[in-house]
Amino acid sequence: MASKIDKRGPSYSQLEEGAKQATPLLHQSAREIQPYGKIARLPIALDEKVCAQSAENLNQALADTITLRDLYKKHHWQVAGHTFYQLHLLFDKHYGEQNELVDSIAERIQSLGAVSLAMAADVAETTIIPRPPRGREEVPAQISRLLEAHEFLLREVRTMAKQASEAGDDGTNDLLVSEIIRTNELQVWFLAEHLVDVPLVRADKAKAAGAAD
Ligand SMILES: [Fe+2]
Repeated sequence: MASKIDKRGPSYSQLEEGAKQATPLLHQSAREIQPYGKIARLPIALDEKVCAQSAENLNQALADTITLRDLYKKHHWQVAGHTFYQLHLLFDKHYGEQNELVDSIAERIQSLGAVSLAMAADVAETTIIPRPPRGREEVPAQISRLLEAHEFLLREVRTMAKQASEAGDDGTNDLLVSEIIRTNELQVWFLAEHLVDVPLVRADKAKAAGAAD
């Protein structure tokens, strides 16, 4: 004979057990699974030493790219003057492009079996880009500061690209050249043209006359 169905539903003790299972297990901690600076070998046919050297270089490039990215956002917020709207948009466009580079660099580091930098305090300790003042600066100073940061980055990345190429790390070399160098050079051009001192509306007749003499 089939047993009767219990219409009273689950007992109190059953409910209590169910709630226990559904309760999040908070305040957990554990040791790191991989220390910073150590390589977890991945089957990518690259020597561990090559991976470690590339990862060290890329973490430097990452810290500097995060800093340059954030410098763009600072200037996006703090820009002033009659070119406000144009620069407000340009700075944010470059911020977005640098942000994509940040992700590409960090994921390349992880792909090499290394650990990428992530947090602001670690970035601040690592970057070679000079810290700007907290306050607002005039537009020419903002642009000069960005151009100098780009050049710091481009100089070091060219050396890193050469190293990666010589070590046979084509993936890292490709990222450094095709993405980082190309993006930074293009952004430098867009910025630098703002510091060319040409008349806005009326051509400089005095200069033209002087040239004709
Ligand atoms: Fe915004």
